[in-house]
Amino acid sequence: MGSIEDPVPSSILIIGSGVFGLSTAYALAQRPSYAHTTITVLDRSTFPAPDAASIDASRIVRADYSDYYYSALCIEAQKLWRQEWGAEGRYHENGLVIAVNSAEDAEAGGKREEMQREMMANLKRLGLSIGKRKDGADVSLLENREAMIRIADGFDGAAGDAGYCNWTSGWADAEAAMKYLEKLARATGRVEFKNAEVESLLFDHSSSTVKGAKLKDGSKIEADLVILAAGAWTPKYIDLRGVASASGQVLAYLDITAEEQAQLENNPTMLNGSNGMFIIPPRDQVLKVARHGYGYANFRSIPHPEHPESGAEIEVSLPWTKMDDPHLSIPKEGSDACRDFLAQCIPHMAERPWSYTRICWYSDTPKGDWLVDYHPKWKNLVVATGGSGHAYKFLPVVGERIADVVVRETRDDLGKALHEKWRWPKERCSSDHIWTNDWRGGRKGMLLDEELARK
Ligand SMILES: Cc1cc2nc3c(=O)[nH]c(=O)nc-3n(C[C@H](O)[C@H](O)[C@H](O)COP(=O)(O)OP(=O)(O)OC[C@H]3O[C@@H](n4cnc5c(N)ncnc54)[C@H](O)[C@@H]3O)c2cc1C
Ligand SMILES: *[C@@H]1O[C@H](CO)[C@@H](O)[C@H](O)[C@H]1NC(C)=O
Ligand SMILES: *[C@@H]1O[C@H](CO)[C@@H](O)[C@H](O)[C@H]1NC(C)=O
Repeated sequence: MGSIEDPVPSSILIIGSGVFGLSTAYALAQRPSYAHTTITVLDRSTFPAPDAASIDASRIVRADYSDYYYSALCIEAQKLWRQEWGAEGRYHENGLVIAVNSAEDAEAGGKREEMQREMMANLKRLGLSIGKRKDGADVSLLENREAMIRIADGFDGAAGDAGYCNWTSGWADAEAAMKYLEKLARATGRVEFKNAEVESLLFDHSSSTVKGAKLKDGSKIEADLVILAAGAWTPKYIDLRGVASASGQVLAYLDITAEEQAQLENNPTMLNGSNGMFIIPPRDQVLKVARHGYGYANFRSIPHPEHPESGAEIEVSLPWTKMDDPHLSIPKEGSDACRDFLAQCIPHMAERPWSYTRICWYSDTPKGDWLVDYHPKWKNLVVATGGSGHAYKFLPVVGERIADVVVRETRDDLGKALHEKWRWPKERCSSDHIWTNDWRGGRKGMLLDEELARK
């Protein structure tokens, strides 16, 4: 809704066609008040961007957040995943096993056990039943390693020695669902897709606004409102020191036979909550092993994005992908971690070589809350990033929530609470680089260059 200080923009430029950018474009295109606004989605890659966090074989969809609001938002998303959004193999509700290592857990003061107890209490409160899947239960407790092996076809090992399976979780075919959303966005006839790389935003210091973006080829795109949704690349375009940083996460894929595909495809996702390692059921005869970790930092000195004329430089972590170096593979440390987890879960596949590896980049914030807000200084700039490794599952609903922030409307208590979480922080963290503290695996503090150099 327009107001005197905030009239309806005649043009909106959205930078980035990932989960955040594309879903926002689709949501805004359907707002009656924006019926005469031109909406442009700009990406440096043709859709789907091969190195975007939103594009991959699979992403986990789980509502078991310890945070009530993300959990509630996921339950909204899951309703849609179970319908048209998840049709044609885009969503599979196979369950998710969260495993722990009980000995280590006890050493750590039983913190995870406590977490699990808390989740179980939560579960009862929500009226979900505990039992075996064949009885139609929502959750199965897995008391030991044997129970864990038994639950997964084709697994001759396990992700831990205790835990539970939430049968109401699943996984989405990330690339397929993004293509589905692209189709929906195009069908509105309201969204123009442009293929070009942003060089910098056009800051107007005298009015504290942005005029649009300058592109790599030197040309300019102007817009009344700019939505910066460049994922892990965002710190290149505004100063996000102490707010959000790029962290590189490892993915390793192996080829399996049609027979193995049939055997593994109905299993739950296997996740070790203690070290962040997980295996998602295979798609198209490819099995994926990955880690939700602190990730690698890739520090680069760049001109201060908001003051390029000053000559000042800042140091920030930025993505480094196969588009920068086609021969890039994951560091030995990450490959070993994936290999160990594969060997623990499916020992008979332990020797199989990776057919492909990838470093996928999170935009990480201190507590893992996203950053979706008007910029505190640049009045007509909305930032939508900070997915912190968990935003994909919300694809069917997140665009509407971001659009609410853009139009400064609050539809319900959930929206209000979420926007509080997503606000630009009152203070930046004392350290420029963010290592998110949720339940990350791997070592904290790893540098990409250093890890790549190890043989
Ligand atoms: C390995 C991995 C595993 C994950 N697992 C899960 C999971 O299991 N469940 C879950 O819910 N979430 C998961 N996530 C998180 C989720 O995928 C992300 O939070 C989400 O995809 C972020 O979307 P985005 O739009 O911010 O970024 P992106 O998808 O990265 O989109 C950013 C876009 O900006 C474009 N861009 C960058 N620079 C420029 C420029 N200069 N000019 C023009 N365009 C530019 C890029 O090409 C890209 O398309 C995972 C992420 C990763 C990396
Ligand atoms: C299992 O998932 C449901 C939603 O799909 C969620 O409400 C519930 O809290 C989850 N169970 C646990 C134990 O976290
Ligand atoms: C799960 O993580 C814990 C903690 O790092 C580790 O000790 C255990 O071996 C892991 N289990 C598997 C199967 O990877």
